[in-house]
Amino acid sequence: MKRVDVILQDPEFRSISEMIKKREYDRIFCRHSLGHALSVARIAHIINLEEALGLEKEMIYGAALLHDIGRYSSYEEEGMSHHEAGAFVARPILERAGFTTEEIDIMCDAIMKHKKKNGNPGSLSEVLYRADKLSRNCFMCDARSECYWKEEKKNKSVIY
Ligand SMILES: [Fe+2]
Ligand SMILES: [Fe+2]
Repeated sequence: MKRVDVILQDPEFRSISEMIKKREYDRIFCRHSLGHALSVARIAHIINLEEALGLEKEMIYGAALLHDIGRYSSYEEEGMSHHEAGAFVARPILERAGFTTEEIDIMCDAIMKHKKKNGNPGSLSEVLYRADKLSRNCFMCDARSECYWKEEKKNKSVIY
């Protein structure tokens, strides 16, 4: 089985994803669903191909699938952002999926930094950041006026 498919079958990934789904059931702002994670994965891979960045496909998908896994974790309750918490939660899941320590370090770094541009073009973290933002449909969002994202951060296009 491909390593990304192992993540999808991972019991911890499944249970956290289910909890996020329940917690966000009536959320009016962006959700952090499997659909969102897969959009990020696919957009990131399109960027990777179009810009010939040479990033490894399974690492893109693995990082994207787990980038918001820190939502509502015990770490977040202790005051960590979901970006930082996500890196902690993702590591054992990535280990169980068979990624190497070096790959996991890069993927967890990307998860930790997905909130903002980090000035390292072509890196997994930069691509994940861009894909995360491009995945959001701010241009047709009912909650746009109440959203905490600054106007300049809101995604206004489906193409970049
Ligand atoms: Fe996020
Ligand atoms: Fe996200």
